[in-house]
Amino acid sequence: MNYLRKITDDLYWVGGNDRRIALFENVYPVPRGVSYNSYLLLDEKTVLFDTVDRSVSLRYRDNVATLLNGRPLDYLVVQHMEPDHCSAVSDMLREYPEMKVVCTAKAVAMINQFYDVENLADRVITVGEGDTLSTGRHQFTFVTAPMVHWPEVMVSFDSTDGILFSADAFGSFGAINGNLFADEVDYEKDWLDDSRRYYTNIVGKYGAQVQALLKKAAGLDIRMICPLHGLVWRKDLAWLLEKYNAWSTYTPEEKGVVIAVGSIYGNTETAADILAGMLAEKGVRNIRLYDVSATHSSYILADAFRFSHVVLASITYNSGIFSNMEHLLHELAAHNLQNRTLAFIQNGSWAATSAKQMQAILANLKNMTVLEQLPTLKSSVKEPQLAELQALADAIAAGM
Ligand code: FEO
Repeated sequence: MNYLRKITDDLYWVGGNDRRIALFENVYPVPRGVSYNSYLLLDEKTVLFDTVDRSVSLRYRDNVATLLNGRPLDYLVVQHMEPDHCSAVSDMLREYPEMKVVCTAKAVAMINQFYDVENLADRVITVGEGDTLSTGRHQFTFVTAPMVHWPEVMVSFDSTDGILFSADAFGSFGAINGNLFADEVDYEKDWLDDSRRYYTNIVGKYGAQVQALLKKAAGLDIRMICPLHGLVWRKDLAWLLEKYNAWSTYTPEEKGVVIAVGSIYGNTETAADILAGMLAEKGVRNIRLYDVSATHSSYILADAFRFSHVVLASITYNSGIFSNMEHLLHELAAHNLQNRTLAFIQNGSWAATSAKQMQAILANLKNMTVLEQLPTLKSSVKEPQLAELQALADAIAAGM
């Protein structure tokens, strides 16, 4: 027995939630779970938008069959071929022999890469930028969105009801707990952090491509957004678009300081704590201090996208950088963080060289201001380091 949420008179959410998953993409912690969204339109033709991850595939297929109630499924629109959305494509092709797959040419190639489908060419309608599909009352236009977040991605716009089926864009980590619409929850309090962490870690590298999609979207009369993860948007779309504009242009949302520290015995962490206290006394209010061994890099990366300043404090470890800090630095570089003020703190009982090595990893990031103050510890904080930390706190506070 299913109870499926109605979005409009003829559009339904038919996805599933995975609350047992520990790591999304086997990388990112999702303590609130994740939803795999799919949407079924019951027009003169029946249209399914994407499938789901295999973890919820049985439930999803039951959802679709329940709603179809014996009607044939005419179209499966495949917007994205990452397996968290395409795992049931071959099952649906088998279960609905009259169904046509609507997707880009690149997606056709990927269906063949992932699955063995007989006579796939006979089952596919290949579409590209601006192509349309009429399903009766609804008229769809397909808009390509390469690298948001794979090369084959497209989004679909229903010009009849103003609904954008946005693929991974505008998604979020977090399972759907009954309330399907963003306006039914306190989004800023309960969802925004996971939405930011999802965007920055999954799509954050591709800001230019997201900007290209936002420019195309600006020409559409969008009244609702149906993403492949997280909640459906039917109000406050301008607020959401503004967040996406900031994230995809690597613009800080607000002034604030993220301090990430790699410390073994706590001396480097003490320096970070002292800096945080000095910043607070200078009136800085948004301070986040993370131990890179205790907090997954995805959370620190998301806050680096949120705030204006990033301080990286690491011991020198086997003449290199503390390994968990090195991982974070590569994540910051891989996700193209830009337009930030950076500062470094280094420690070394043999020789303190970690700052130079940290700076080298971030050297190619655009429009970064590196503060010249460089507190340097030889094992622990002494009087000279207190002065150096104060100088750094003064420099950061001056930029707030
Ligand atoms: Fe949710 Fe790029 O897949």
